[in-house]
Order: sequence, then C-alpha cells, then structure tokens
Amino acid sequence: MILIECIQQMCHEAFIQAYPTLITEPWMAEVTRATSVKFGHYQCNSAMKLTKRLAKNPKEIAAQVISILQTGEGSAGLFEKLEIAGPGFINVWLKAEFIESEVNKMLGDIRLGVPKIKNPQKIAIDFSAPNTAKEMHVGHLRSTIIGDALARIIEFLGHELLRLNHIGDWGTQFGMLIAYLKQYQPEVASGEFETDLSHLMQWYKTSKKIFDEDLVFKKNAQQEVVALQSGEASAIQIWKMICDISQKAYHQIYDYLEVKLIDRGESFYNPMLPGIVKELTDKGYVVINNSAKCIFLDGFKNREGEALPMMLQKSDGGYNYDTTDMAAMKHRVQIEKCNRLIYVTDSGQSTHFAMLFAAAKKVGYADENIRLDHVPFGLVLGPDGKKYKTRSGDTEKLIDLLSEGVSRAKKILLERNQQEAIFTETELEETAKIIGVSAIKYADLSGNRIQDYVFEYDKMLKLEGNTAAFLIYAYVRTAGIKRKLSEKQDLSAAKIQLTHPMELNLAMHLLRFPEIVYQVADDLFPNGLCEYLFELANHFNQFFRDCRIIGSEQQASRLLLSDLTAQVLKLGMGLLGLKTVEKM
Ligand code: ARG
Repeated sequence: MILIECIQQMCHEAFIQAYPTLITEPWMAEVTRATSVKFGHYQCNSAMKLTKRLAKNPKEIAAQVISILQTGEGSAGLFEKLEIAGPGFINVWLKAEFIESEVNKMLGDIRLGVPKIKNPQKIAIDFSAPNTAKEMHVGHLRSTIIGDALARIIEFLGHELLRLNHIGDWGTQFGMLIAYLKQYQPEVASGEFETDLSHLMQWYKTSKKIFDEDLVFKKNAQQEVVALQSGEASAIQIWKMICDISQKAYHQIYDYLEVKLIDRGESFYNPMLPGIVKELTDKGYVVINNSAKCIFLDGFKNREGEALPMMLQKSDGGYNYDTTDMAAMKHRVQIEKCNRLIYVTDSGQSTHFAMLFAAAKKVGYADENIRLDHVPFGLVLGPDGKKYKTRSGDTEKLIDLLSEGVSRAKKILLERNQQEAIFTETELEETAKIIGVSAIKYADLSGNRIQDYVFEYDKMLKLEGNTAAFLIYAYVRTAGIKRKLSEKQDLSAAKIQLTHPMELNLAMHLLRFPEIVYQVADDLFPNGLCEYLFELANHFNQFFRDCRIIGSEQQASRLLLSDLTAQVLKLGMGLLGLKTVEKM
C-alpha cells in the first residue's frame, strides 16, 4: 500500500471504531496532502463531512478520532503529532523515525516504492493521430507528448497497454489525390518515382483546387472514391502508397521523440461500419433525421437549442468520424477486451467525445465497468499570443521545430564548453539532443494541459524555473557528488539518517513519489508529476545548500539521500518521456 492510502485506511478504521454506525453506508475517509508544511504532512477533513450524518460537532468528531488514532496499535510508530485545526481538520505529522525507515526501504527497491497495481487492466490510449497527406500540426505534437507521458506512467504501474495511432487515413478526400496522381503524376502513381510527404501535401492542395474548378476532374475524383471503397486494385495501390509516405514522415518524428505507437488508422475500422449501422438500426437506436441515420442522446443541444444528434450515416450513404469512432469503441472493448479507453485530443473535440461516450453507454458498447476518459488540451500559441504556426505549416517543418530546440540547446552548451571543457564533441551532440527535446516536451507537460501554452524556446531552455533543464541540472549535481565520492566510500552497510530539517523535508518529499505516480495515472494530468519533480529539485537544492556532504560526519547517509533523489528524478523524468545526463 502507498503511504497516503495507509494513512487513509488508519483514519477510516478510527472513524468506524469511534462511530460504528458508519459501517452501514458506503463511505471512505478522505486524506489529502497538507496544503502547507505548517499544517503537517497530511490532513483528513472527513469530520466536517460527517457532521450531519453523525449529528455531532466536527471538532468533537475529530477529537474522538484523534484519541483513537493515538492509542491504536499501528499508529504508535507512525504519528508524531495529530492536531485539530480550523473547523475540524485533522492534521497529521509523521515521525522522523518512520520517514527514515521508509526512505531506507525505498533505497533498496528498484521501483522506488511504487507498487505494481493490484488489479491490472487492459487500457487503450489513443493519441497523436495525425491525418494522412495533411499537415501534422503542433496540436498533434501536443497529443503525442502528453499521450506518451500518460502511456509510460500507466504502463509502469503494470497495466497492459495499447498505444493506438488513430490516423485519419480514410475518407472521400483521397479520391481527389488519387485522381490527381493518375492524371498529373503518372510515374508517381505507378510507383516508378518515389516521392515524399511535402510533395503529397502540395498535390493534395492543388487537387482540391482543381476539384472545385474542373467538372471532369471532379467526376474522376468521385469515381476514385467509389473505386477505393470497392477495393479496386489501382486505387488501393495508390492510397497505400500515400499512407506509407505519410506514416514514414510521422515515424521520423516519433523516433526523434522516442515515442512508440501502433498505427491503426480509420481505414482499419472501415469494413466494420455497415455492420455497426445495421446493428444499431436493428436494435432500434437509429432515427432517420433529414435522411441521415442518427442517434439522439439526452442532454446534447445545438446553439439554437435543438437536439444535437450523433450522425452515423450521411444522407448520401457515406460514413464519418463518429461512425468510425463507434466502431473503434466496439472493437477496443469487445475484441481487444480493454477495460479503460483514453483519448488524447485538443479540447475542440470535447463535444465529440462526450457524445461518443454517451452513445457507447446508450447502445451498450461500454457498460459501467468500462472507464472512458477524454484528455483534452489547449492550443499551442506563438510568442504573439496567436495560434502557433510552423513556417510553411507542414510536417517537415515540425521536425525543424524540434531540431531548432536542439540546436539552441547546443549553442548554450557550446558556450559553457568554451568556459570550461566538459564535453567531447559527441557528448555535446547527445546532451544537446536530450536537453532540446526534453525542454520542448516539458514545456508542454508542465502546465495544466487544459490551458493554452506559449511556445518559447528561450523560456523552455532556461536553467532556472520550472523547466527540464532545471531538473536535469539538479540531477547532474547528484551525479557529480556521486562521482566524487563513490570510489572512496563503501556504502554497502550505510543507511540514511535524518538529522537536519532539510534532510527530513527532502526525505518526506521522496516518500510521496508513489502517491504522485498513482495520482497521475488516475487524473491524467501529467503536470502533477512535473510539479512534484520541480519541488523535489528545490528540496534537493536546499538540502545541498544547508547540509555539507563531503567531509561531514553524515557523509555516507547524505550520499545515499542524494543518490535516492537522483533515482527518483531519473525515474520520474523517464515516466514523462524525458532523459537525464551525467554532466552539464
Ligand atoms: N485525426 C484526428 C485529428 O486530427 C484525431 C483522432 C483522435 N482519435 C479518435 N479516436 N477520434 O483531429
């Protein structure tokens, strides 16, 4: 059990011992982290919540619970102080001896105190999901970075994970591009000439223009859609080529970011769509509305206040984004046997997912045992406060955006290296890549994802403040201490001993690591882990400032505490998809 759960359990039992009637209704004591150090380590506010139910004054309830906690068996070694505060909060201070023995346990544990989940689930996380032959924009980059961090955290807890890239690789738009390639780029269409994504995107734009102006071309394009849908060989071959080229370009970005994804685009579900519509029609869920097949859901209205349906099949017989997502939902639940589905997209799609989830519940694709989460995020803004645009807005430029971060990091490191030779040339390249990429990822992860964030290289590469470079630098410090001392000191019999208040603060913060990892796997806000790591680096810096390590009596203990900090930093950053370096 993780620490906060342990305290919660103890409080819970104390409440029940004090008020046995509490057993009759489902209820659980609530314990949270103290809002400030002056209020202790943890707090429980259940006394106030039970005032009505117990018909008692909350302070009286709290006092009763505290007296039980103080005499309880397990609590003797755990609580330093228990105090009533304000209207009936119970503030909890843990004993230094307890903190000390717990950090020592953490030291010998490769999972650093984070237990594997008791009931592992199969979870699908749908992220990145760019659209074939179209630009992969910064929004997709954001989805990639946030989705990957969440995936790493969930996987670490021991769940089985499916990282799905729901690429927009199917639809009527391909008719235009196929017709265009056949007519204007026959060598490419036949596979004689290879091409790349930037050309495809250019041709896509041109084909759209011709489509709007040239009736013959329009007809050809429409025929290609029919050909594609009926599986005609030449149309399928060209479509496949278009998809391969696009995927190659995305994977260049995923490789650069070290993100793993299974490509399972919309086309994968295409053969299932007629069956879905038939099934839902047969079961009586479908209503014909303006000759389109729709599902009406309670609580969804358009701006005019009219019921807003989810459309499964358009009046022309075509399927759409909603239909594909219904099929994907069914597949993920019934075939993949997932217990939880997570979708990471911009907040602009919040209504789509709210309707999808409502529809899936209504038709029984997802019952109450299936957890559905939409993970929305805000826009990426330029320094001018407007929506961020890469120079020409295409995928190749997204790679440029990343490598620009790396080359700026390199410039900073080069300057450092001139002052003091730290790196060889290859080390400098590697370090620049780690710092540049981590800076971009961290800038994206460290704010509350719901809010828009401003993309600014200078800010994200700063060594001070809540940045990746700041965390990496704290790690480098720990690595430096270790290098200096590890040869001289045998630590095999050593233990952490907490003698200084800064050591105690740091140790207590280290103990909270498991709680944070579990919290993020549940609430899906990776900034919680970023804040934790930022505070950890701050606690460490204070400890480093106030507690002499080298040559002190506590040298071995402090070395271990510093090393444990390093391990937590490294693991915590790794869970966010960030890397550390040994020197800087
Ligand atoms: N391709 C979509 C877009 O670019 C995102 C897909 C998200 N996933 C899903 N299952 N709808 O906005």
